Amino acid sequence: MARNVYGLDLGSYEIKVYDKKKDTIWKEKDVIALKDVREIFAVGDDAYEMYEKAPSNIEVVFPMKEGVIAHFNNMQFLLQNLLKKGRQFARGSEYVIAVPTDVTEVQKKAFFDLVIHSTAKAKEVNIVERSIADAVGLNLDVKNTKGVFIVNFGGDTTELSVIAGGGMVMNRLLKIGGSTFDQSVVNLVRHSHDFLIGIHTAEVLRKSFGIFTSDAESMLTVAGRDLITGVPMRKAISISLVRAAMKDPLLECVRAINSLLDRTPPEVRKAIHENGIFLTGGVANTAGLETYVEEMVGITTRTALEPDICAVSGLKKIIQSKDLRKLAYSMLDENYRWMR
Ligand SMILES: Nc1ncnc2c1ncn2[C@@H]1O[C@H](COP(=O)(O)OP(=O)(O)OP(=O)(O)O)[C@@H](O)[C@H]1O
Ligand SMILES: [Mg+2]
Repeated sequence: MARNVYGLDLGSYEIKVYDKKKDTIWKEKDVIALKDVREIFAVGDDAYEMYEKAPSNIEVVFPMKEGVIAHFNNMQFLLQNLLKKGRQFARGSEYVIAVPTDVTEVQKKAFFDLVIHSTAKAKEVNIVERSIADAVGLNLDVKNTKGVFIVNFGGDTTELSVIAGGGMVMNRLLKIGGSTFDQSVVNLVRHSHDFLIGIHTAEVLRKSFGIFTSDAESMLTVAGRDLITGVPMRKAISISLVRAAMKDPLLECVRAINSLLDRTPPEVRKAIHENGIFLTGGVANTAGLETYVEEMVGITTRTALEPDICAVSGLKKIIQSKDLRKLAYSMLDENYRWMR
């Protein structure tokens, strides 16, 4: 018997963990602050608070980029040090991790290696395709559905998936996420107001405004630096400017959704028209996003109750149910054996 079972959804923005024994889900920012290049100064939420505020000898880094592990060692430090913050992973435990589908086998294997090497004597590590976990988190009948479309709007990526008959039919990982929108807001504020704001500030603007809401004249005053005088100051930024910045990346997502639908087999596409599109991932909290997707694609669209923890909630159900456990597979099986 394993000591405990954990479900892990390692996102580019936030790590989400389900702890079976405690029956809780916890989240921490996927961020690490390094002092003088090598020493760990802070991890998780504490490190995120230092982003763009830390002195020059402290570097704040995101060890994951675009949905995959970009810096294996930093990611390993991060997981190990989160544990020291009282987030205990018991020795000899079992892990079920959600991984993106549309990445290379080597990138998938990196998730597996990370957990094997960062946690105390993992007894077993199993993998679930993240969209399958999302579908379970959405309470969809993965095994019997004739077709559903899931869009996971994450921090660095947007993952599009078509699921039918218990498996993945189509999947695409777009390199567009919350950070893309934020960078676009920074750029537009810079060009239109000669005013430089941080990515963090752009995120605050984006989260407080949303799209498709009626208060088009709303303004929010934020801190930044005037690029003409060089002086730090506060300026009012309008909701319409933030929306304008989000327009192009959002259109790109819609185009990709339509193009994946076009390539979906007709009978599955018909079922999607009946069952609808489901939104998950933190950015799906954006007010009006559901209506936007529905109008642009022409298919009924619904959002998960707590979209950012939808996949990890799915892992929770997979861990708890003997029947759903079959959705998880081992990387040591069949095709993966050669990689060991
Ligand atoms: N209320 C909100 N409104 C709008 N955006 C939000 C809200 N809450 C969180 N977000 C955004 O959600 C994103 C994080 O979502 P999520 O946790 O799903 O990403 P992730 O899983 O870490 O990233 P990825 O799946 O791309 O690797 C961030 O960009 C954050 O700004
Ligand atoms: Mg994610």
